[in-house]
Amino acid sequence: MTETINLKDHIRSIPDFPKPGILFYDISTLLAHAKAWHETIEQMAAALKPHKPDLLAGIESRGFLLAAPLALALGTGFVMLRKKGKLPGITVRHTYALEYGTDTIEIQSDAVEAGKRVVLVDDLLATGGTMAAAVTLLQQVGAVVPAAACIIELTFLEGRKRLPVPVEALLQYD
Ligand code: PRP
Ligand code: MG
Repeated sequence: MTETINLKDHIRSIPDFPKPGILFYDISTLLAHAKAWHETIEQMAAALKPHKPDLLAGIESRGFLLAAPLALALGTGFVMLRKKGKLPGITVRHTYALEYGTDTIEIQSDAVEAGKRVVLVDDLLATGGTMAAAVTLLQQVGAVVPAAACIIELTFLEGRKRLPVPVEALLQYD
């Protein structure tokens, strides 16, 4: 008998982290469950395939956990979008507002060949500030960004509206 996996059963919500009033969706328990994590990668890979990516771009740090196995599953390369000061060579950076605080992400300016299709991957879409900054950076270095993808979308924050590309989200929370 095939066991049906409900991915939401493997995601914990932790109140008041990292600040009072924020409900944090924790994917640690999803990562720790071999079948649930495998199912997550399979579902994400199926959602990304129609966008025909040449490369996947993962956003540090939780986006890396997802983009690396997805790139292997889809047979694409993987590009890192890192927090500031971590990448050598010539970089392009962008500062953005988070659900809590601000952050800066960076990409190496030669990371993508002009015109390559780069699908953006992160674990979670909240306000959309992180993904919007990531799309801006990818486009600045010459990528075509056909879509972005995440496991979790916090629909009440309407982050999707800030993005100039369609978003594939496996799970929605309102
Ligand atoms: C979290 C999450 C997304 C981002 C979503 O990352 O992993 O990257 O916030 O928020 P937004 O849509 O409001 O921009 P965080 O910066 O907390 O760091 P981490 O991935 O390194 O844990
Ligand atoms: Mg993150």
